[in-house]
Amino acid sequence: MNRFARISGTGSCLPPLRLTNADMAARLAERGIETSDEWIVERTGIHARHFVADGVFASDLGAEAARQAMQAAGVAPADIDLIIVATSTPDMVFPSTAAIVQHKLGIAGCPVFDVQAVCSGFVYALTVADAMIRTGSANKALVIGAEVFSRLLDFNDRTTCVLFGDGAGAVVLEASDTPGILATDLHADGKHVGILCVPGHVSGGAVLGDPLLKMDGQAVFKLAVGVLEDAARAVLTKAGKQESDVDWLIPHQANIRIMQSTARKLKLPMDKVVVTVNEHGNTSAASIPLALDHAVRAGQVKKGDTLLLEGVGGGFTWGAVLLDF
Ligand code: UT7
Repeated sequence: MNRFARISGTGSCLPPLRLTNADMAARLAERGIETSDEWIVERTGIHARHFVADGVFASDLGAEAARQAMQAAGVAPADIDLIIVATSTPDMVFPSTAAIVQHKLGIAGCPVFDVQAVCSGFVYALTVADAMIRTGSANKALVIGAEVFSRLLDFNDRTTCVLFGDGAGAVVLEASDTPGILATDLHADGKHVGILCVPGHVSGGAVLGDPLLKMDGQAVFKLAVGVLEDAARAVLTKAGKQESDVDWLIPHQANIRIMQSTARKLKLPMDKVVVTVNEHGNTSAASIPLALDHAVRAGQVKKGDTLLLEGVGGGFTWGAVLLDF
């Protein structure tokens, strides 16, 4: 009997503090830096983002998203036998945020680890979980994207600080005799490390180097639009499907212009694209599962739909997952 991995439940969590572009403009004005709702909306499609309060960590958001996903799947914490958290904003240097999430969920014993692929983290984590389920290493996995990017933002840099937000999304991925995940495609090219990075590190009790986010937005933009098309075509080819078979494109939510470009290249109308960047900003590894859960709960994505998930980000990393929901 063939063994596949299938999403059986989704969940998400946004911290309650919502900042509009006007709130961000007021915050930056206190530092003598100018931005506007008009600029942010026109260049990115972002209207608002959520930020965590002090003392709230990626594990808190991830655990809540996971609880919702387990409830939606009708799965108890004791049934979970693998937890993967995609994050670039872990609670601690170590242990993994996945270990902290595991404990917060009252689970013990199963393997847990983090995946660090920045904004591609969720497609990387989903690909690893799919492989572990298909080979029999796991039966019911929690795959979580959880981020608190507000902690990495340089509020003196208007070109980046207005773009990002905090949040988490999660899925339960279960072994199934029907697919499920149809095809996956992952890539990276480390020569682009410098165009999107947080260069600081911890050494001898101090943070050395700059621990705030740096991005060459135009370089990232140009690379992103090319590789997203390639990854989309790769999973469609691997699965023997056409663009027209895709019910919903759920891309990484960084910039509406990148999503429009990908949709155009794939000849998909924008009403087949799940868009949450307007309300969430760029939540890095959390953006795809957050968008998926919002689309499920809004009644857009339905059981049986074919979904194309696509991530791109620091590393440079990129990839796609094609699945029947
Ligand atoms: O999650 C990983 C993936 N990340 C991404 O996909 C991000 C990709 N990049 C982007 O989304 C876009 O490049 C940005 C949104 C970051 C920037 O948009 P852009 O159209 O490439 O703008 P730009 O960098 O060319 O800047 C245009 C102008 C500049 O002014 P001058 O030099 O033309 O006078 C900037 O200084 O806009 C100015 N600017 C701003 N103005 C008001 C930059 N940021 C702001 C701001 N408010 N927040």
